Amino acid sequence: MIRTAITVFLLLQSALYAKTETSYEIGKNLYYANGCANCHGTNAEGSSYYPKLSNKKRDFLTKKLEDFKKGIAQTQKQEIMFTFAKPLTQADIKNITYFLAHFKKEDSRKYDVEEDLLGVDY
Ligand code: HEC
Repeated sequence: MIRTAITVFLLLQSALYAKTETSYEIGKNLYYANGCANCHGTNAEGSSYYPKLSNKKRDFLTKKLEDFKKGIAQTQKQEIMFTFAKPLTQADIKNITYFLAHFKKEDSRKYDVEEDLLGVDY
């Protein structure tokens, strides 16, 4: 009985700890793991060709990603995003947009080519 109680207690504890990863951290990992930084930049700062994403309104970013996922684009240039938006789940979009809308520069990772999971040169 005591054993069961301890097991339950430990399980609950780990469930609580597992929940401590914030939307910001999950979104940040997704942003880099999905190769978004390759085009939009390590600080999501964009460039002359790719739009800046950091600190843009979350509603705007969400709408864009949901449209891209559905195959809706305003310009031909945006169609490249279909490939990158398709694999994202609704939860992924929630977390990535949270991260981008609340982007803090000091948190950004140093871009390391060896960590480039896609291994693609742009
Ligand atoms: C191969 C390069 C590339 C990659 C990788 C990429 N994007 Fe994009 N993204 C673009 C281009 C190009 C546009 C459209 C630019 C335009 O409308 O002029 C765009 C547009 C967007 C927009 C709309 C922004 C705006 O201001 O209109 C969002 C949001 C976005 N991308 C998020 C992401 C996310 C999140 C990822 C990773 C899952 C990602 N992108 C990966 C190239 C890329």
